[in-house]
Amino acid sequence: MSNVATADFVNHKYQGFSLAPAALSERLLELRFDAQTVSAFLAATAEWPIQALEYKSFLRFRVGQILNDLCGQALQPLLINTLVDRDTGALLITPEGLDKVEQAEDMVKFTTAVAHLFGRSNYDAMSGQYYARFVVQNQDNSDSYLRQAHRVMELHNDGTFVEQDTDYVLMLKIDEQNMEGGNSLLLHLDDWEHLARFYADPMARRVMRWAAPPSKNTTKDVYHAVFDTDRGGQPIMAYIDQFVQPKNYEEGVWLADLSEALETSTRKLSVPVPTGSFLLINNHFWLHGRDKFIAHEGLRRELMRQRGYFTHAKTLKNPNQG
Ligand SMILES: [Fe+2]
Repeated sequence: MSNVATADFVNHKYQGFSLAPAALSERLLELRFDAQTVSAFLAATAEWPIQALEYKSFLRFRVGQILNDLCGQALQPLLINTLVDRDTGALLITPEGLDKVEQAEDMVKFTTAVAHLFGRSNYDAMSGQYYARFVVQNQDNSDSYLRQAHRVMELHNDGTFVEQDTDYVLMLKIDEQNMEGGNSLLLHLDDWEHLARFYADPMARRVMRWAAPPSKNTTKDVYHAVFDTDRGGQPIMAYIDQFVQPKNYEEGVWLADLSEALETSTRKLSVPVPTGSFLLINNHFWLHGRDKFIAHEGLRRELMRQRGYFTHAKTLKNPNQG
């Protein structure tokens, strides 16, 4: 993959963090914040517990500014540009020294700072906050696959059944005990073997109904097609297998084919995310999911997510297509 724009970013020496392509794929960039940067950030923001960030939205931007200042102002343009760069659009971010569950609130604060340099995290109906923390354990009786261990969570985009723009997804690993397997799965649309076939199909533009189960706390159905075209003329997707509601045989069979073609892709990346690290992806041209884990009585995983819209770059959606 030739990628001049990204190469410029990667070959640069930064203040406060380092950046390199992941061994798994050049599309995924690994950004590591030095322990010194992380502790300076926590000291500079110590007066604001997470509750302050929950109550006052503007403080989320202030903590972003503080982190950007510690990085010599180079962090913000880097995040803005890489997240909309079609060739990459994905980062695995590690704040060094933030890797224990006792530091969970500091982890949330740090992710908030990063997210609010390029975007604004949406209200999450599941938690009633701008972020949601949730736990996966060996036993589960919820009504979606989000918390279920022992099975693959299929590739999907987020925000498909809400009316908010969902340009990015940020997924943080807060804790992990007795976990074997369960890697994050990622697929870039341009890597998918079957993109051309599905994107060219008239069904790609069929407006379908999307509805979520009760735990998602959304009551209104939304209507949109699985595929759209961005401003640059490239395919983007808004798809999740569990919440699309085909109205007839034709839609149902096409969706079943689509699901199979995604799940059998050999181009998926299986990404281990260490405790304290987080994935940040462009939600329009990256699909995400989670591999199955091995059952264990003491299994515990705690995650946090933020989803939101880009405030600097316009959303990638073509304005003529709704
Ligand atoms: Fe998701």
